[in-house]
Amino acid sequence: MLPGDGIGPEVSAEALKVVEAAADTFGFSYETETYDFGGDRYLATGEILPDSAIEEFRDYHAIYLGAIGHPDVAPGVLEKGILLKVRFDLDQYINLRPIKLYPGVPCPLVGKGPEHIDFVVVRENTEGIYTGAGGFQYKGTPQEVSTQIHVTTRFGAERAVRYAFDLTQRRNRMKQLHLVAKTNVLTFVHDTWWRAFNEVGEADYPDIKREYAHVDAACMWFVKNPEWFDVVVTDNQLGDIITDLGAVIQGGMGLAASGNLNPDGVSMFEPIHGSAPRYTGQGKINPLAAIAAAGMMLDQLGETVAAEAVESAITNVLGSGKIKDLGAGRMGYTTSEVGDLIATEVKSIGK
Ligand code: IPM
Ligand code: MN
Repeated sequence: MLPGDGIGPEVSAEALKVVEAAADTFGFSYETETYDFGGDRYLATGEILPDSAIEEFRDYHAIYLGAIGHPDVAPGVLEKGILLKVRFDLDQYINLRPIKLYPGVPCPLVGKGPEHIDFVVVRENTEGIYTGAGGFQYKGTPQEVSTQIHVTTRFGAERAVRYAFDLTQRRNRMKQLHLVAKTNVLTFVHDTWWRAFNEVGEADYPDIKREYAHVDAACMWFVKNPEWFDVVVTDNQLGDIITDLGAVIQGGMGLAASGNLNPDGVSMFEPIHGSAPRYTGQGKINPLAAIAAAGMMLDQLGETVAAEAVESAITNVLGSGKIKDLGAGRMGYTTSEVGDLIATEVKSIGK
């Protein structure tokens, strides 16, 4: 457990509460270890996330992260030093982000319901513009030059694309995979993606329909026709951006979960929202994204029945209309009470 900053610890506690309910109900056991890396520890000790901790992380079956980000720490320090470091060092090359509108959740798109919004974004998670390649020259002078280099490797694009094709196969829904990129401008890096996508698809997934959308158009289609999407594969930065748009069409950041996956190693699960520092410790934040991320973790750990129960519990509780508003402080329940609702529902599903 890396509960992290701000509201991270509160929502992580609810995620763990639901895992515990699932373990009791479905008969598996687990152990957790908690690490306090985050803004407060950094401010107190100067330590961000040492390599020795990464070495320890390699021995776990999964990592669960609450949220990272502290108002008194400069942007980038914790994000790069903790979140991106874990993703990169543990080679979590897939960032899996389901975009699903649950029943009973108000959707900002007129005329769209749960039958229209159910797709998954596969975001490449170790390359692109996130690698940190680049730098400054003549910083602070009128001649200042800054570069931030987008790094795509054929290997990285291809493994993301393959994962996405496999997922499309497993979902067995529309059998359709979209590549989202900007091939009309990023004629090098996205050409590599384009060829990887088409060559892999043609050779190994002839039954999966390949679609392409430029990222700007994809933003429009996410709003106008979200039902066109089944699985989307994209690079790191575009995936970051379009999944916030995805979160809002599924009812808000409070519902969007993600998994940073290394299919052959240790994966890390987290809600995609931030640390919301101004709500810290108030019990006002909806923990459902965090709980859904715990569900994804159970799935990855092979506890598929328990994972499905968590997913159904979220669906049932939201569908019941008990929680009228998911906004901070407007739920009519505290963070912990929402955790209780889901935990109770998991137990009753398992009966
Ligand atoms: C996310 C976040 C991170 C990202 C930040 C905090 C580095 O926005 O997980 O989407 O850009 O990947
Ligand atoms: Mn993001």
